[in-house]
Amino acid sequence: MCKDFLVLKQLVKEFGSGNDIFRAVDEVNLTVDEGELITLLGPSGCGKTTTLRMIAGFHTPSGGEIFIDGEEVSSIPPNKRPTSMVFQNYALFPHMTVKENVAYGLKIRKDSKQEVERKSNDIIKLLGLDGLQNRQPAQLSGGQQQRVSLARAMVMEPKLLLFDEPLSNLDAKLRVSTRLEIRKLQQRVGITSVYVTHDQEEAMTLSDRVVIMKDGKIQQIGKPAEIYAHPANLFVAGFIGKANFLEAKVKSIDGDYFTLDVHGVTCRAPYWNQAVAAGDSVELVVRPESIIPEEPDDKLLQGRILDSVYFGSHILYEIQISQDKVITIEVSDPQQHIQYPVGTRVGLVFKEKSLHVIPKE
Ligand SMILES: Nc1ncnc2c1ncn2[C@@H]1O[C@H](COP(=O)(O)OP(=O)(O)OP(=O)(O)O)[C@@H](O)[C@H]1O
Ligand SMILES: [Mg+2]
Repeated sequence: MCKDFLVLKQLVKEFGSGNDIFRAVDEVNLTVDEGELITLLGPSGCGKTTTLRMIAGFHTPSGGEIFIDGEEVSSIPPNKRPTSMVFQNYALFPHMTVKENVAYGLKIRKDSKQEVERKSNDIIKLLGLDGLQNRQPAQLSGGQQQRVSLARAMVMEPKLLLFDEPLSNLDAKLRVSTRLEIRKLQQRVGITSVYVTHDQEEAMTLSDRVVIMKDGKIQQIGKPAEIYAHPANLFVAGFIGKANFLEAKVKSIDGDYFTLDVHGVTCRAPYWNQAVAAGDSVELVVRPESIIPEEPDDKLLQGRILDSVYFGSHILYEIQISQDKVITIEVSDPQQHIQYPVGTRVGLVFKEKSLHVIPKE
């Protein structure tokens, strides 16, 4: 396995000219290992597609370098790069059959007739499109069209597969099953992939590592669990999953734990962030599933239930803990708990290992 299979170095893309320059991608540095699936995740307009298009060669960088398998690719046109892209809108040829769509790129590349036949048959089989070879795109479901589009990219045997929101035209259920298929296939074939999405669940479930972007800049790179448990800043904490932010003050640092004052009560949180010292004001990130409502008690943060909703898999409570602060909590496995009605006063127990402290910005 090659460690730095894809390398982005100080990558910049600016649009416009003169006084009207806009920096869509701002000094992005990233290395992707061979066989890895990495997602670029962030809100609309944060520069995900622009980054992907620079890797594919559809945009020329304004600065920085891109290496694929050790080769700097700036001067290589898109069709000569070892990349294939899967698009959101499938981009299939409507007048061609599935088989013709899949074989098209190989023919253009002038692979031999036998090779075209063998490779397209193999990939059609791999993607479970066997019975559909002679249909045209209009005779396929959205999910099937997306699989053809994936087949068409994979048949070229690229070193790098690029996905730009490939599932966003599918309905919710199909999106989930198709993303599982993509993940299994990617792992089986072992192809290095960069996957763009603004759907955090998709990113978390698909990726080896996630790159969180905002305003053209990388905010954090990490495994899904690392990013969820240890967000680098408030933006990441709020963007990945749900989070309550509580103002807190560090009273002391004792071994592996912070001791904090949170709204007048004492609680502990893992000592993770070395940049935080005793006396600092911080934000405590508390996930909704990390709080348990119990009988009120002087030692506990207390609140009044504003909303109590049964979801089957969990109960969601909105709890007012001070005049201007409402937090959200989720209690899983509702059958094991009584559901508190609106108006109940409760004490809040934090699962301290799940808490995360972030310096105030
Ligand atoms: N050709 C262009 N000319 C000028 N500005 C552009 C161009 N392409 C993109 N931009 C701007 O660059 C920024 C990043 O765009 P990009 O398409 O990379 O965002 P994105 O993260 O893919 O967003 P989305 O999730 O909506 O697809 C946006 O503000 C966009 O308006
Ligand atoms: Mg985009």
